[in-house]
Amino acid sequence: MCGIVGYIGEKPAIDVLLNGLSHLEYRGYDSAGVALYENSDIEIYKASGKLINLKELVKDKEICKTSKKGIGHIRWATHGLPTTVNAHPHTCNCKSLAIVHNGIIENFQELKEELLKLGCNFVSETDTEVVAHLIAHKYTKCKDLLEAVRLSTLEIKGAYALCVMHKNAEDEIIVAKRNAPLLIGIGEGENFIASDIPAIIDYTKKAIYLNDNQVARVTKDTVEIYNSDKSQGNNKVENLPFEPISLSKMGYKHYMLKEIHEQGDVVRNILSGRLISAEEDVKLDNITIDLKNISRIQIIACGTSYHAGLVGKYVIEDLTGIPTDVEASSEYIYRNKTANKNTLVIGISQSGETADTITAIKQVKEKGAKVLIITNRPDSTMARLGDSLFSIDAGIEVSVAATKSYMAQLLALYLFAIYLAQNNPRVDMKAKLKEIKHDILQLPSKIEIILNNKDEIIEISKKYSGFKDFIFIARGINYPTALEGALKLKEISYINATGYPAGELKHGPIAMLDDSMPVLAILNDGIVYDKVLSNCQEARARQARLIGVASGMDDKNKEIFNDLIIIPKISDFVSPALHAVVLQLLAYYIAGYLGKDVDQPRNLAKSVTVE
Ligand code: F6R
Repeated sequence: MCGIVGYIGEKPAIDVLLNGLSHLEYRGYDSAGVALYENSDIEIYKASGKLINLKELVKDKEICKTSKKGIGHIRWATHGLPTTVNAHPHTCNCKSLAIVHNGIIENFQELKEELLKLGCNFVSETDTEVVAHLIAHKYTKCKDLLEAVRLSTLEIKGAYALCVMHKNAEDEIIVAKRNAPLLIGIGEGENFIASDIPAIIDYTKKAIYLNDNQVARVTKDTVEIYNSDKSQGNNKVENLPFEPISLSKMGYKHYMLKEIHEQGDVVRNILSGRLISAEEDVKLDNITIDLKNISRIQIIACGTSYHAGLVGKYVIEDLTGIPTDVEASSEYIYRNKTANKNTLVIGISQSGETADTITAIKQVKEKGAKVLIITNRPDSTMARLGDSLFSIDAGIEVSVAATKSYMAQLLALYLFAIYLAQNNPRVDMKAKLKEIKHDILQLPSKIEIILNNKDEIIEISKKYSGFKDFIFIARGINYPTALEGALKLKEISYINATGYPAGELKHGPIAMLDDSMPVLAILNDGIVYDKVLSNCQEARARQARLIGVASGMDDKNKEIFNDLIIIPKISDFVSPALHAVVLQLLAYYIAGYLGKDVDQPRNLAKSVTVE
């Protein structure tokens, strides 16, 4: 989604801005722009499409050689088409300031009407331009940029991370934030501004996170932070967690492929210190919530994280008997909340910045629920909101399509469910837990067996890349795997793919089946194996081409499948983690054959910071 970078110091600002924006590209965007300050003048350059277009535009500009202060932005369109004119930075009538903005200004129409009456002319369709005019208008009265921004934020409804420069405010950049992340990177004789760590990690490992409703003056040597009532903020300088190396493709063609291949280590990493052996208890020292009186669990998440939550439901209910619901955050926030002090809410999010999930979590906190956050970003807004944090530490995920973070979320949920079960004196399930822990410990090597033997998956991907529609079917604990496999395929290849409970096929979707619609079935030894096999027979009888992903198959059943991918033997309970790897690879290679932009699929963003 949108990304912000700002710089003030001694380096050529353009280099820092373009480098920072390139590290935010993975989030998904459709246009880019920069504003550069020099001798009481501001020049703005914007381009639709990829960052390369902006680089071309600025490459011979004189100001790039001398300017040491600037702001930059990549935009993911919310208001108005992804055109150059709608790209940020935006300015006011007299072009005395430049502003970049992440978030959505909810009352921009009302503000715009007021500003039109004051004589402002609007050139774009964006909500951000309204803020540019509002700040400019305030500045003409108070002549202080920080105060003009502070006063403006009092009138703005909605979410914003703002970064503002004014021609007359030579030594400063003003920033402000509400419900959208913003941090100030601290350097020596230089300071940085970013909406996310990767934008500035090449330059500094120290940063100050702004809190909601704060505004700050950033000079090259100082940072002054104020709350909305003008009192001083006492935000601390924090250490940033990322190493620059994590942003490299390490020889892989795409980040997605690299991240799929990291999953063995991701599992080892999350198990480390938490699950040592099948005989020992799971240790989750960071979970400080008192779980004794929890009578119900609600899992709240979006997209792939929601699918991890669905697996979590199976796992938690099976091991603990605690009723567990899984809610898509965007639906949950507009319903009557039944959470109370005996409810444990688990918020799952790779980015920790998904606006819908953040809103839902704030709502359940008001109801007194305890909140556990499972995220890959311990520095995120969501991590800060939770009562306890399960940091999945999968390393930064650059590809928009979530893969290794999904794997780590699954593992976090397995570990948490075991932790709940082992501490539950009502049921003794030592033997069952021991078996599960044993299987979990074997996951890394089994994942690597799949990754080291992927030629067959590549061949099958090629064979099926021409189809326009797919159905993914499974039952039980792998039903969410079918949903996730279908989501991976559609988001990166733009093929229409639907995940369906296999038993539901005959209640409707079977009508669509013929030889133009492949059915991918996920089968694992266990209670639903024979049932899924019967559903495969039903599909085959309608001439559907059948791809099986199975942990073993009798010779007599093999022949109903057109193609069969056999994964290492694994218990049904833990199998979603292995099947997911196969489906990720299939989606990746099919999208590759179709020549799609695998890491940055159209219209998608890595971190969805608007509701
Ligand atoms: C799909 C994908 C999305 C995210 C969703 C939630 O590959 O990545 O569906 O899972 O946007 O994002 P997070 O997990 O950051 O809350």
